[in-house]
Amino acid sequence: MSKIYILFISIEGNTRSFLTRLAAFAKQQHSINPKNPVIELKEITDQTVPAAEKEPFFAFVPTYLDGGNGIDSGYTELMTNALGEYIASNSNADHCLGVVGSGNKNFNEQYCLTARQYAYEFKVPFLADYELRGTSEDVERIYGILSKEVAKKEQ
Ligand SMILES: Cc1cc2nc3c(=O)[nH]c(=O)nc-3n(C[C@H](O)[C@H](O)[C@H](O)COP(=O)(O)O)c2cc1C
Repeated sequence: MSKIYILFISIEGNTRSFLTRLAAFAKQQHSINPKNPVIELKEITDQTVPAAEKEPFFAFVPTYLDGGNGIDSGYTELMTNALGEYIASNSNADHCLGVVGSGNKNFNEQYCLTARQYAYEFKVPFLADYELRGTSEDVERIYGILSKEVAKKEQ
């Protein structure tokens, strides 16, 4: 059975909320057509013990950068480092199929910058972005993108 496996971090709960809704949507789509992949989630926190991932995964990355103005300062990652460190450990990046960023457009140039930095650092595609908790359109759109990537991988 094809599956979308997602590693994520969530400091204030927005990413967790989005992914809970994404998983519910996937379950519903899977019940309509079993070819539609279900979702498995793994939350990374500062307490997560590094481990070797064995299966392909996507990373969902919210953005926390030090108080910059989005134009010429504030590019240092805060709060979410545990996810980047987990991906960097145990050659896990080799299994990463891509990143999805979230953030707040009020941060201008810094919008979703951490996910873009991960894409660059781990040489994986930046697949999609959404703001804050995301809308139901975001859920459908991103499910479509991830399903396509999984199908490509399985070909
Ligand atoms: C202190 C702080 C800094 C933030 N910095 C950025 C930023 O630089 N760029 C951005 O797009 N969003 C930024 N955000 C918005 C968060 O990425 C957004 O609220 C996200 O949904 C948080 O996800 P989470 O609730 O799963 O932790 C910031 C939020 C906070 C509270």
